[in-house]
Amino acid sequence: MSSLQSIDKNQAYGTFKDSLRAPIHRWFTYPAGYSYKLVEAKIEAHGIGPDDVVGDPFVGTGTTSLAAKLRGVSSVGVEAHPFVHWVAQTKLHFERGADGLGEDANSVLRDAEQIQARQRCLNEWPDLVYKCFSQENLFRLGALRAAIEQTTSAHKELLKVALTATLRDSTSAGAGWPYIAPSKFAQRKVDRNAFLDFTKRCALIESDIVQAMSIKPISSSHSLVLGDARRFSHFSGKGALKMVLTSPPYLNNYDYADRTRLETYFWGMFNSWGEITKHVRDKLIVAATTQVRRSEMEETVQLPGVGSASQSVQNELTEIVERLSRLRREKSGNKSYDLMVAGYFEDMLQVIVEVYESLEPNGAFILVLGDSAPYGVHVATDELVARIALDIGFKDYVIEVIRTRGDKWAGNPQRHQVPLRESIVTLTK
Ligand SMILES: C[S@@+](CC[C@H](N)C(=O)[O-])C[C@H]1O[C@@H](n2cnc3c(N)ncnc32)[C@H](O)[C@@H]1O
Repeated sequence: MSSLQSIDKNQAYGTFKDSLRAPIHRWFTYPAGYSYKLVEAKIEAHGIGPDDVVGDPFVGTGTTSLAAKLRGVSSVGVEAHPFVHWVAQTKLHFERGADGLGEDANSVLRDAEQIQARQRCLNEWPDLVYKCFSQENLFRLGALRAAIEQTTSAHKELLKVALTATLRDSTSAGAGWPYIAPSKFAQRKVDRNAFLDFTKRCALIESDIVQAMSIKPISSSHSLVLGDARRFSHFSGKGALKMVLTSPPYLNNYDYADRTRLETYFWGMFNSWGEITKHVRDKLIVAATTQVRRSEMEETVQLPGVGSASQSVQNELTEIVERLSRLRREKSGNKSYDLMVAGYFEDMLQVIVEVYESLEPNGAFILVLGDSAPYGVHVATDELVARIALDIGFKDYVIEVIRTRGDKWAGNPQRHQVPLRESIVTLTK
């Protein structure tokens, strides 16, 4: 059984921009896919209570887990990107900052001012970091980093989150989300002072914690795993969840590993594209051509996993993949959209099977998805995912179209006539 609904749900579900303004959610700007309001609306609609557990296999910076916690609902989240996972952990355990964060922030600031006055030296950073800040500001940021690293404060992780957010606040480059563009030097920002921006960030974090603590939600338990969504039920337990709500990477060539380059370089977590590939890019489901290694994906192109679940979807996708393969040879860009699409559905198949296992009978699997049109070839991601899920064993699905969207494919002269859209797919076990 299936149905497609086209409704403007922005009122009830909000947009990801709400989370940029909401306490705690706003500590780190990340392309989250949806608003905390969607999580609240779905918790309500599916009658989720304090004895239930919700899950998110692509938990990112933790919108699902945090919104659940603030409602007294327990959760399991999985994220494969170590830096993003750390951000989610720190946000989710906000109560650890309930006492004395302001004093510790002041003391770190004083230490940083002394460090800066004493040595004015810079760390060994990759070029990108130097390109994003004036030298003076980089002295301040380096001194703040050193002061936080040496502090014994119980709030060290929160202070690190504050300094992480300060990077984009106090950059001199065009570093708005999602792209860092050091070549775009924004004059109005040139004279930012990282000490002041850090102080503001700490004050915001402190007041968000006070506000969240005043809500006093029913106590709940939360597990955030640094792991792979393709092994989700291993982390959640089988038949344990009443609802899984997630936004997987969209099939739109968006490289999540690249998005946090500035932050991971600044903290010395990674020092090169190669290190990011090894520790992040290669661990994510395929959704960008930068993840495709043609020599290693000869089998993927046959879509064996999808074929074992759904013959009709395999046939449809094979046609799409073959068209993209022909276009790749004709076009100058030589983009591996064919393998990106095949890899995406092979990976998503595993996630759908795992989520099925993790759910209670009648449990709901809710995905926020975007479709796409690489080289102008339309791929109806929502419908294809839903059909695979039915063949795996889900009883029915509903697709709610939340918005139609323009995106980077729109400039393509071969663009198909179907407007691209974002939808919420709800599958029932
Ligand atoms: C659209 S974002 C989800 C954002 C999330 N809703 C939030 O609140 O920040 C998709 C996330 O999936 C993660 N991801 C990609 N492949 C993964 C995998 N195999 N296992 C776990 N997480 C993965 C990416 O790192 C990214 O953070």
